[in-house]
Amino acid sequence: MSGSVGRPVSRVDGRAKVTGAARYAAEFAPADVLHVALVGSTVPKGRIAAFDTRAAQKAEGVRAVITHLNAPRLPYRPFEERPEVDPSVGEPLRVLQGPEIHFSGQPIAAVVADTLAQARHAAALVRVTYDAQVATTTFDGERGRAPKAEGGETRRGAAVQALGKAPVTVDAVYVHPREHHNAMEPHATVALWEDGHLTLWDKTQWVNNDAAEIAHVFGIPEDHVRVICPYVGGAFGSALRTWPHVTIAALAARLVGQPVRLELTRRELYTSVGFRPHTEQRVALGARRDGRLTALIHEATAQTSAYEEHTEETLAPARVTYACPNVLTRYRLVEMDVNTPTSMRAPGVATGLFALECAMDELAVALDMDPLELRLANYAERNEEDDLPWSSKELRACYRMAAERFGWSRRAPAPRSMRDGAWLVGYGMASAVYPAYRSEACASATVFADGTALVRSAASDMGPGTYTAMTQVAADALELPLDRVRFELGDTALPRAPVHGGSITMASVGTAVQAACEAVRAKLGAGRSYPDALREHGVDHMEATAEVEPGDESKKFSSWAFGALFAEVRVDADLGMVRVARIVGAYDVGRVINPTTARSQCLGGMVGGLGMALLEQADWDPRFGRVMNANFAEYLVPVNADVRTLEVLFVPGDDRRFNPLGAKGLAEIGLCGVAPAIANAVYHATGRRIRTLPITLEALLA
Ligand code: MOS
Repeated sequence: MSGSVGRPVSRVDGRAKVTGAARYAAEFAPADVLHVALVGSTVPKGRIAAFDTRAAQKAEGVRAVITHLNAPRLPYRPFEERPEVDPSVGEPLRVLQGPEIHFSGQPIAAVVADTLAQARHAAALVRVTYDAQVATTTFDGERGRAPKAEGGETRRGAAVQALGKAPVTVDAVYVHPREHHNAMEPHATVALWEDGHLTLWDKTQWVNNDAAEIAHVFGIPEDHVRVICPYVGGAFGSALRTWPHVTIAALAARLVGQPVRLELTRRELYTSVGFRPHTEQRVALGARRDGRLTALIHEATAQTSAYEEHTEETLAPARVTYACPNVLTRYRLVEMDVNTPTSMRAPGVATGLFALECAMDELAVALDMDPLELRLANYAERNEEDDLPWSSKELRACYRMAAERFGWSRRAPAPRSMRDGAWLVGYGMASAVYPAYRSEACASATVFADGTALVRSAASDMGPGTYTAMTQVAADALELPLDRVRFELGDTALPRAPVHGGSITMASVGTAVQAACEAVRAKLGAGRSYPDALREHGVDHMEATAEVEPGDESKKFSSWAFGALFAEVRVDADLGMVRVARIVGAYDVGRVINPTTARSQCLGGMVGGLGMALLEQADWDPRFGRVMNANFAEYLVPVNADVRTLEVLFVPGDDRRFNPLGAKGLAEIGLCGVAPAIANAVYHATGRRIRTLPITLEALLA
């Protein structure tokens, strides 16, 4: 009966998804819903001098053309405490509130019409005159400045001096391009006002924050906004924040007095929901001849917008991944006239690991040492930065398990020494780390006289399998079979949940679900069946809620997920084409709640990492400050033909020091380490060290 956790359960929402019963934001259709289309700025900086909206207003089906000239002023009530997903420095874009333009593509007008086609046609008729100003549209690392939020610099020991004395060194610069989330589901918002209360069906990774943000923008009580989001068709960080288009939808609905639906186009997604910032990194390593690190310097310079300061944990891996007495990290920002970057899967960490793990590979070459041996020689037995023991760490087992499955021992050390006909064969590896976070969360559990249970939390499921894993946790805690338990999420009417990001959902919401289930059992008294117990209490159902928060474990232990990645590439010796033949990853993620969905997370991470290594990049036109390939045809992501053998292994783990479920969180770790393992394999195959992503055929032939 019990024992759901740890079993490879199929998605409980799988049937709803494949039959189309699962409804996504843009599919909600309140009666008399109208449609909104946006007009985006064509210049990256300046002011709007004039609008000519006459043709748009006369177009068929048009109900309103909204610009800063006729939009109501919104109060933007200040936050006492800023939402953790918003940058701590700067101010979010106040959309349709003034003539200033901060980036190309900024929404400057909205057209409301009876149909989507009418709205988009009329939006194309809006004429705009600009007072354009000179914009900063090129990334110039020399203009980098320290973040205003914090110093941006950390020191352990004396890294510069140690580097100067080191017998073996590497010192190189790595470039990571601007990347976009490009989830399958475009962002969309449906807004409905009734008696001063707003309902939003919105694509979001955090319904509670969505409601709070919009309440602040409109100056209304938070409980006057209800946000509903039962399904998310991928997000990868793009739906963490409440972006300006959500405000526009709510504003338009209020102005026309009817519900509206706003669906961003694929092109608009490139300017509306953030992106992974272009980042340039210097890594300098010093080592003894036996491979032990004596100095590690990691500097990162990333782009941000001129109106907000987005920072990320690019340098966290440098501080914790290896044992090293002398570590210096320095983070800098370059302001540009672009929309604000945001978190994108394993934000910063995946970017930083690309540079760090490629540099480690370069050090292995300089030392004439096996790359895996080099990692083992510098194994961090504790978190040297925080000076804390790990709550758990099975990275050694990850290295061993993945290396064995991969056949790492068959690797001939010299580059260009392994061949299969016309193909150069390369083996590469990398370490993966990602911090395990936990946040406060609430859940409720209700048992009914028919022996079923309903468990609820305002959590989100952007694809990792929250519905399924929470159902498993609840079924075990209630000692019920899985099919007797239903889990609901994605609605501010449910008990509060934290952001569905940073891989925190299982450790946070899972712990609350377990606690709520235990609470309802305690209320009913143990030892009887639920129908008997309810009869005894004279009720037909019983509910309990639980509110859980982290204890002081993070003061005593450092909690991280770990992984070891091995990749085999084949490079056409004449044409430079790269094929990733195999990726093997082994992971320490604590207890695995569901091996099927856990494996899917890592497969997705491997495919994403393949894209990061070989395909993905926003082609940037500095003349216009605009992404040129803002579509799925030209922004390349891996397709099935790019993906060959992927193998995912989990080492046994159960981290009860981190949380009562023993799970460390499993999402972002899947992307970590994949791109550097592939880049290192390309070096091994070709002898060419490409330090700029993506590694294209053109770069290899140059
Ligand atoms: Mo993730 S980038 O925290 O959605």
